[in-house]
Amino acid sequence: MDKFIRVIDFIKSKFANQDFVPLHAPVFVGNERTYVLDSIESTFVSSVGLYVDLAEKMIAEISQSKKAIAVVNGTSGLQIALQLAGANQGTEVITQALTFVATANAIHYTGAIPVFLDVDYDTMGLSPQAVSDFLEEFAEIRETGVFNKKSGRKIAACVPMHTFGFPVHLDQLLSVCDKWGIPIVEDAAESLGSTYKGRPTGSFGKLGVFSFNGNKIVTCGGGGIIVTQDEDLGIKGKHLTTTAKVPHPYEYVHDQVGYNFRMPNINAALVCAQLEQLDFFLKNKRFLAEEYNEYFHKEGIKFRKELNNTTANYWLMCVELDNLEERNQFLKITNDSKTMTRPIWQLMFRLPMYQNCQRDNQKNAQFLEERIVNIPSGVRR
Ligand SMILES: Cc1ncc(COP(=O)(O)O)c(C=O)c1O
Repeated sequence: MDKFIRVIDFIKSKFANQDFVPLHAPVFVGNERTYVLDSIESTFVSSVGLYVDLAEKMIAEISQSKKAIAVVNGTSGLQIALQLAGANQGTEVITQALTFVATANAIHYTGAIPVFLDVDYDTMGLSPQAVSDFLEEFAEIRETGVFNKKSGRKIAACVPMHTFGFPVHLDQLLSVCDKWGIPIVEDAAESLGSTYKGRPTGSFGKLGVFSFNGNKIVTCGGGGIIVTQDEDLGIKGKHLTTTAKVPHPYEYVHDQVGYNFRMPNINAALVCAQLEQLDFFLKNKRFLAEEYNEYFHKEGIKFRKELNNTTANYWLMCVELDNLEERNQFLKITNDSKTMTRPIWQLMFRLPMYQNCQRDNQKNAQFLEERIVNIPSGVRR
């Protein structure tokens, strides 16, 4: 289709001198080499070191949170955050089916079972109305918490995910979850730098989690971080992620089953250098988003923009095609022309391990599943 050929030309013109245009490649133009070398020379490359402390301090500031706990990746961060929120064997956790598999996996690792509810069309993230409808129909409050009348299981937490960096309707979701006394754990893996009514995503829930995987807006190869406003939870989180070792000058004392999830100092060195450039990355991507928006508008293709009262970090930018057939054509033509595009995820209940989980009608999720495609979104130098 001529229109799609023009799109490829446009994208290639924005990423000049690249034979292959990836979806998102990391950019290391700051102090990365200096800090990593410093970590090597200090010999503190592993699970303690100044850069771990510094990364936690920087993220606490950026996300306006009281405590930050650096971990090996976002998935393990989510697992621990969920455990701290109360998810464990035999409980349930509400989340969206339109997400990356790590959200559901992290719930599973705690022993809890995911319940998949619909997303809003505009945010592509968990719908407060869908959560409210589900709870009105299935939940009942007992002395020990909120229970799902159908399954008999306790509903331990609710995990909204800020898809591609577009914040969910947080005020409404907080009000529904507050009404039922269900803690929110924000899967903010994709939304570092995004804000809702001026406040950073990740800082609204009982806990929030960011990812520093290689494809994220800021990376350290692999890494993640848990944030919380609750000092006690922060201390518990640090303890759990560091093998639950009780401080002692030489004895090995561990007071519970902990995890070796602590971020190594050498990765923390990399992330500190990356975090110093977050503002530059955000501005650079916002500029590309504006160029895309203007261009796609002229072509009659819907480019997804941030909503009022929010700022998106524009981590992965996306277009909405008219239907599945058009989406498939777009994916084929662009990828054949070495311009990387990728469909949004398959809904979680289509995966064999989650096919029996309770879910609602998934009207918006299925609509988006057939139409949303990510386009090259990396920082340009
Ligand atoms: C929505 C979402 N949740 C969780 C994760 C897990 O993060 P990580 O890859 O750092 O484990 C990712 C990213 O990979 C993600 O996109």
